[in-house]
Amino acid sequence: MCGIVAYIGKSKNGSQFVFQGLKKLEYRGYDSWGLAVKPLRSQVLKVEKHIGKIGQAKTKLPLSSIAIGHTRWATHGGVTNSNAHPHLDCSRKLAVIHNGIVENYQEIKTELKKKGHQFRSETDTEVIAHFIEEKLKTMSLRKAVFSTFKALSGSNAICVLDSKKETILACRDGSPLVVGIGKDEYFLASDVTPFLKKTKKAVFLKDREGVVLKRHGVSFFNLQTGKKKRIKVKIVNWEVEDAQKGGYSHFLIKEIFEQPKTISKTAELNREVIKKLSLKIKKGKKVILLGCGTASYCAKAAEYFFAHAGIEAQSYGAYEFLPFARFCNSKTIVIAISQSGETADTLIAVKKAKQKKALIAAIVNAPGSTLERLADFTLPVGAGPEIAVVSTKAFTSQLATLYLLSSSVKGKGDLGRKKIKSLDKSLRLWFKNGIKEKIIKLAKMLLDANDIYLIGKHLNYPAALEFALKIKETSYLHSEAFASGELKHGVISLIQKGTPCIALLDSQKKIKEEVLSSAMELKSRGAKIIGVAPFNSLVFDYHFKTPDLKELTLIPNIIVGQLLGYYLGLGRGTDPDKPRNLAKSVTVK
Ligand code: G6P
Repeated sequence: MCGIVAYIGKSKNGSQFVFQGLKKLEYRGYDSWGLAVKPLRSQVLKVEKHIGKIGQAKTKLPLSSIAIGHTRWATHGGVTNSNAHPHLDCSRKLAVIHNGIVENYQEIKTELKKKGHQFRSETDTEVIAHFIEEKLKTMSLRKAVFSTFKALSGSNAICVLDSKKETILACRDGSPLVVGIGKDEYFLASDVTPFLKKTKKAVFLKDREGVVLKRHGVSFFNLQTGKKKRIKVKIVNWEVEDAQKGGYSHFLIKEIFEQPKTISKTAELNREVIKKLSLKIKKGKKVILLGCGTASYCAKAAEYFFAHAGIEAQSYGAYEFLPFARFCNSKTIVIAISQSGETADTLIAVKKAKQKKALIAAIVNAPGSTLERLADFTLPVGAGPEIAVVSTKAFTSQLATLYLLSSSVKGKGDLGRKKIKSLDKSLRLWFKNGIKEKIIKLAKMLLDANDIYLIGKHLNYPAALEFALKIKETSYLHSEAFASGELKHGVISLIQKGTPCIALLDSQKKIKEEVLSSAMELKSRGAKIIGVAPFNSLVFDYHFKTPDLKELTLIPNIIVGQLLGYYLGLGRGTDPDKPRNLAKSVTVK
């Protein structure tokens, strides 16, 4: 995925706005970045492109009231200056930025080359600029942009700046775009964070919609009919501060420490929808849980929540769901979990289930997403903007929401809410108790490890999977999680003298005993056992104490993984907010 930002309006600092806005969207891609600016009193576009992250970059841009910018996660064409966006047409009057993949770009490129267009990059995006230029020979700007967009296959969002007409046009089909409505100024971006400071009025474009932004107004269009559309302006309730670091050195650590507040907040959300959904589940609907990455581990944990409520739910990584989608029907509820609501694999799985008449419930964090639109029920988790690439607070809020839903299915909705609410206090107390020093100590112990293995059982099994993922994503250290019962069936052969193994436990007696004896089996083969649990044990070589929250102990156990990933990342010299090769949500197949 990539990040798009655009500005048009009264300010002369439009280019600076776009530049700063891109920094907020850097999580969407950080291979390279670029801007196209129409300087005041000039029609000659100033284009600037750079390889690498925009984070600390400084640049001198001309004063401008029209500008577009892009931060790239490379798909077609290597990470080079010439492949960075924006891309221009031959006349250099049109600049295009793009999020998505133009699947038929080769065919279009061949045709355009025959017509004499000169290409300067290897990207799929550049064909869009030349295609529009070609069409402009016979039609108006709006028609040329819209008909070009309709000819592209794949999931795409584009933004086009015409320096001559002083107009910005954008279209979406499958990749997100949102318009911010200010006072005599308009913004366009892949999410709301670049313009939150300026306005909270937003219009989330739907698939196959287009928009034309001029200095004094904005109009929305249905791309199929070409006709103007009336639109609904939404008021976004995210706060500007939520999208800032607020004194922390990274978004990741800020977002980890926000969790007492964000998790407990979910207790107040979605009451009506939870009631409705739990009724349907109780009446015998089959529950399927879907997600990718961290969200897939949330789905896995929810499987156990539902089992405790007497419901057989089944979780899938959305990318593996298609062969099983055929078993969906009108008696199935598919619960799709996603921070962004834009992950292509999740959307594809959901669309398939929908075709089979399954009811779709979306557990999402970002407002106005595609997933939200596909769903019959939406349960926003309200964690606020999550800027760090790896998911932390959105994940625990999703988990809490699913806990609330399963509690309601069990007929214990009020108790569930009480427990989630009380996490605020218990987690805060735990955080205050020198957690940072303890984690740093643990991180130092593990800094030079080649491999870390984790074990957990039942709810602490998905917790271990997520714990291991946090270490991998943030510190690039190899870590692998197993169900503790799986150990002796092969995995144990990996253990050597001194191999660090982390056992995640809660205080449930029977499970505790089983996991401790698995840990003992590892210890007997030379492993160094780190226990993450509310209690200490002789098996542990090192104990990291977490609060005893019964079945919800998986939450602090996972938080240890988030923190450990962060400090290991710092120790190993990674950028914890923007791990290499990753994007916050993968909007391409
Ligand atoms: C990418 C990110 C992961 C994230 C996953 C799902 O792979 O790198 O951190 O968990 O997408 O994203 P979603 O927005 O659907 O939760």
